[in-house]
Amino acid sequence: MDANILIIDDEKDQAEAIAESLRNVGYTCSTAESGNKVVDIIRRDGIDVVITDLIMHDIDGMKILKEIKEKAPDTEVILITGHGTVETAVISMQKGAATYLLKPVNINLLRVAVGKVVEKQNIVRSNIELHKQLEEKFAFAGIVGNSQQMHRIFNILKQIASTTATVLVVGESGTGKELIARAIHYNGPRKNNPFVELNSAAISETLLESELFGHEKGSFTGAAYQRKGKFEYANNGTLFLDEIGDMPLTTQAKLLRVIEDGRIVRIGSNETIKIDVRIIAATNKDLGALVKEGKFREDLYFRFNVICMRLPPLRERQEDVFLLMDTFIKEFSKKNGKKIKDITPEARKILFRYNWPGNVRELKNCIESMIVFNQNGILDINDIPEHIYKSNKTALTGPVFPVGITLEEMEKELMKNTLAYVGGNRGETARILGIGERTLYRKLEKYNLK
Ligand SMILES: Nc1ncnc2c1ncn2[C@@H]1O[C@H](COP(=O)(O)OP(=O)(O)OP(=O)(O)O)[C@@H](O)[C@H]1O
Ligand SMILES: [Mg+2]
Repeated sequence: MDANILIIDDEKDQAEAIAESLRNVGYTCSTAESGNKVVDIIRRDGIDVVITDLIMHDIDGMKILKEIKEKAPDTEVILITGHGTVETAVISMQKGAATYLLKPVNINLLRVAVGKVVEKQNIVRSNIELHKQLEEKFAFAGIVGNSQQMHRIFNILKQIASTTATVLVVGESGTGKELIARAIHYNGPRKNNPFVELNSAAISETLLESELFGHEKGSFTGAAYQRKGKFEYANNGTLFLDEIGDMPLTTQAKLLRVIEDGRIVRIGSNETIKIDVRIIAATNKDLGALVKEGKFREDLYFRFNVICMRLPPLRERQEDVFLLMDTFIKEFSKKNGKKIKDITPEARKILFRYNWPGNVRELKNCIESMIVFNQNGILDINDIPEHIYKSNKTALTGPVFPVGITLEEMEKELMKNTLAYVGGNRGETARILGIGERTLYRKLEKYNLK
């Protein structure tokens, strides 16, 4: 580990001995005989850790500590103390010292102590750095996450935003697919050009094609005016094709042609229009499976699948729950003009354990409703929406099986509860129950639980 350490001791030999023993394990060390201008030295030399004697002739370690914590709080302070002053040393810890060591200094203990302090400092710093980066890079889009999975997503994001490659974003409902799509656009070279969105679901085929490519007046019944399509609006920018899995096959064929040619023809027109559009597609469906079922064109799938970002469901990155929770508490407190001071540990625990079938969106909505209904500024379990609270209670206590019921009844009951707990997700249910999905499927059919 790398760190720049300053040792302050009015006994020069003592300071040098400590410096030498730390240099031997790779630290950069300098020494000073007094605490004069310590903050200047810290700033000039980029000192990470100061080790100071607690009691010296001209200045005392407590004053040095105080000064550093006031003016250079990022620098950690380790105090060295004689037996008579342990009490002061303990007080010094409350005042911000990282730790203290007893005289005579044991070299091994010293190295361990310094190692721990430096390690902690590095973690704090990298967190701050990360947040800065996130805020800089994703502030407008507010993507929050500190799990390994989300870091992977951020890395991919950084790499691909500057390109114009087609991206496929997949993930369950509410995992942040649209958020990611916007982040890709607004972090890339096209950020000053349009981001245009089109949802393929719940829209008729004719309308969808007219939305995509535009149409000429009178090209079909209802086409009273000439109209530009989303491709044209998105020119030089990004077209976000949401719910791509719901796009009809014929439209898929036309879309593929447009992507390959870089040209569109408005419906009812003969004129080709050259376009330069980056496409980001999103779906909560398994496109590979749709291809096998013949519902999605394989060639289009390959086109999209060049870069695939898979957003993990929230239950697979539970460590993000707290972070998101705090983010949304801040956001909705502000929005609703409420002063929410905290959330109780019990409430936190329930939200942490919940399975979040609706992912981040569900968590966001849950926090908003908790804040809206909260009266006393502290979110507690009685603010938690009932279905979430209940599902957790079931999960914690488990179903009760009185003597007298059959194994089959028990199995049915357990399946029903598990299924409810994971919000109807069969894959997850099968995993929890330790059976194959096909077996689960058969049994659900048998018990009429479908
Ligand atoms: N990592 C995140 N950090 C902060 N907010 C998030 C995050 N992920 C999602 N959200 C928020 O959750 C909500 C749902 O996200 P989004 O609309 O992007 O999900 P989606 O995957 O497109 O869902 P659907 O498939 O239902 O359309 C949005 O309000 C979004 O801002
Ligand atoms: Mg969406």
